[in-house]
Amino acid sequence: MRLQGKVALVTGGGSGIGAEISRSLAREGAKVAVADVADQNGERTANEIKQAGGDALFLHLDVTQEEQWKKAIAAVEQHYGKLNVLVNNAGISVRKLVENAELEDWHRIMEVNATGTWLGIKHAIPAMRRAGGGSIINMSSAHAIVGDVGHPAYFASKAGVRLLAKATAIQHAKDNIRCNSIHPGFVETPMTAAFHASGARQHREAKTPLGRLATPEDIAPGAVFLASDESRYMTGAELVIDGGVTAQ
Ligand code: NAI
Repeated sequence: MRLQGKVALVTGGGSGIGAEISRSLAREGAKVAVADVADQNGERTANEIKQAGGDALFLHLDVTQEEQWKKAIAAVEQHYGKLNVLVNNAGISVRKLVENAELEDWHRIMEVNATGTWLGIKHAIPAMRRAGGGSIINMSSAHAIVGDVGHPAYFASKAGVRLLAKATAIQHAKDNIRCNSIHPGFVETPMTAAFHASGARQHREAKTPLGRLATPEDIAPGAVFLASDESRYMTGAELVIDGGVTAQ
């Protein structure tokens, strides 16, 4: 059990990659606060963890709301006594080309993906300092490293959280707080289901050297590693889990 004694908060823990990360952290012994704006889904993940013998707590959290972040961090400290790990995983995707997108599309993507991550870091830092250190993991994307036709606002938001991780890493190394980013390739989740079903699947498989799309189970071990002390000398780093997409 690589995460015995650690307390983690995972945003967007009700679905896809975040749900699998929550379950994986718990399997390794972490106590997990599953946070999501979608209450039923978040509660389901927390219940799955408890039914499997783990320790989990559901927290309603809209990552764009600063007051809700304050309450969520306070609730974790109150319930579990401390916070060691934050996984900034919540995210949305709007697939519109630059010319077709509205200003409100841009603002909404930035608000959830970038501002939501920044708020999480801002409010987790004091709690992690109280805990003697911690590990923050930003869910970025292969498309924070290379571009493509598709949804530029999403790419820009993911590039934002990539550098936010590096800035946090440098500023808070002195506090024993590490911060890294994960860069998945094309993952099969509720976020991408309709897009893949619409014909994108074959195109994306062809673009992936390993020849298949990822599952959340391919991504979660990276988060377990970055949460654990095995990655103790890693900070400000990019963990690419993309089947070779960005190697080309
Ligand atoms: P998903 O749509 O299955 O799950 C996202 C979760 O975030 C949902 O439970 C949703 O309720 C929650 N969420 C959305 N807005 C929120 C808010 N304002 N506050 C709190 N929670 C909120 O998506 P998936 O695919 O599991 O994505 C997880 C992360 O991985 C996202 O940041 C996504 O951008 C990133 N990612 C996904 C890839 C993919 O191919 N699926 C590839 C690269 C990165």
